[in-house]
Amino acid sequence: DNFALIMAGGVGSRLWPLSKSEKPKQFLDLLGMGRSLLQLTYDRLAKVCDEENIYIITNEQYAELVQEQLPGINDYQILAEPVLRNTAPCIAYAAHKIAVKNPKANMVVAPADHLILNEDAFVNAVQHAFSNVQEKDILVTFGIQPSRPDTGYGYIEYDKNSDGLTEVIQFKEKPNLEKAKEFLAHGGFLWNSGIFAWSVESIIKSLGQNAPEINAIFEGIEYYGAQEEEQIRSGYEVCPSDSIDYAILEKAKNVKVLPVQFNWSDLGTWKSIYENKEYDLANNAVHGNVVTENTNNCLIKVRDGKLAVVKGLENFIVVDENDVLVICPKDQEQSIKDIYTKIKGTE
Ligand code: GDD
Ligand code: MG
Repeated sequence: DNFALIMAGGVGSRLWPLSKSEKPKQFLDLLGMGRSLLQLTYDRLAKVCDEENIYIITNEQYAELVQEQLPGINDYQILAEPVLRNTAPCIAYAAHKIAVKNPKANMVVAPADHLILNEDAFVNAVQHAFSNVQEKDILVTFGIQPSRPDTGYGYIEYDKNSDGLTEVIQFKEKPNLEKAKEFLAHGGFLWNSGIFAWSVESIIKSLGQNAPEINAIFEGIEYYGAQEEEQIRSGYEVCPSDSIDYAILEKAKNVKVLPVQFNWSDLGTWKSIYENKEYDLANNAVHGNVVTENTNNCLIKVRDGKLAVVKGLENFIVVDENDVLVICPKDQEQSIKDIYTKIKGTE
């Protein structure tokens, strides 16, 4: 059987103040499409597996929000985490839980905060990956043609002349800018989409080899039993924090990449959101009641009921949301995450 895991536990702090810990971006209708990013992700995954096989992993404080936004799902489909430990534990938890009932299951893992415009291409790619992981002990990631030396992504070196599912020569998570520029100039690199497909058997084996401490914790849980919640709570307490990219993809030898063109965008930063919006003649993307003069290449967002007047500004992000105003040069937007963490830490 085919399963899907939606990872929806991050805070999305690079999009602060729009996204914040009380209501992270995956629960927002960021693009004005009438559905939150989580709902859009769910709709998309319902095209590659049965709805009762879609699991959502999130922090326990968001379990209710998930329930509200996806009213059809059962309790067992929500995996609640007591603390944030990044994506490797998420995947270990889900893989072991699914394997108990279905040791031969395949799973696709997807972040809850991506925009995918070409859903048919997405469905085809996942189905193609499923048919391969069923037969072979491989870990598949979907690779995106990079368009800029972004340091927020994983980079995958591959043989660009081969077609379809192919060998990964090197996987480098979040390189520095110099390296990212090098990769782009080289040409034989893709971005890691952060969407993966594998059999639960293969990923559990790889976790055992490359992240034994994390794997041991989730191997030891009595799933679906009365003890599960308590055991998960104490397991998470001692669980190391690591992302699947560092823990597995950079290390495992059996990673394959499927180059895809499904019009993907990671809505991780302000720039990435505004890439999908319309620009005025001075190359500003604005949202709300905004008057600009002598202002170019800016992203400006004000809340309803407020007028923003911006004069003489270039290459800036101006976001007024709830009780927070952020003004930041566009090329330094990655640091919004650190500032958010600092401010939260002192609260
Ligand atoms: N449940 C849960 N628990 N979800 C989490 C946790 C956690 O502790 N940490 C992160 N997530 C969710 C986020 O909400 C997001 O949907 C997804 O997991 C990925 O986490 P991010 O924090 O957004 O990762 P990233 O964007 O820095 O990097 C990943 O995605 C890039 C593409 O968007 C990596 O896979 C990169 O290699 C990749 O290029
Ligand atoms: Mg992300």
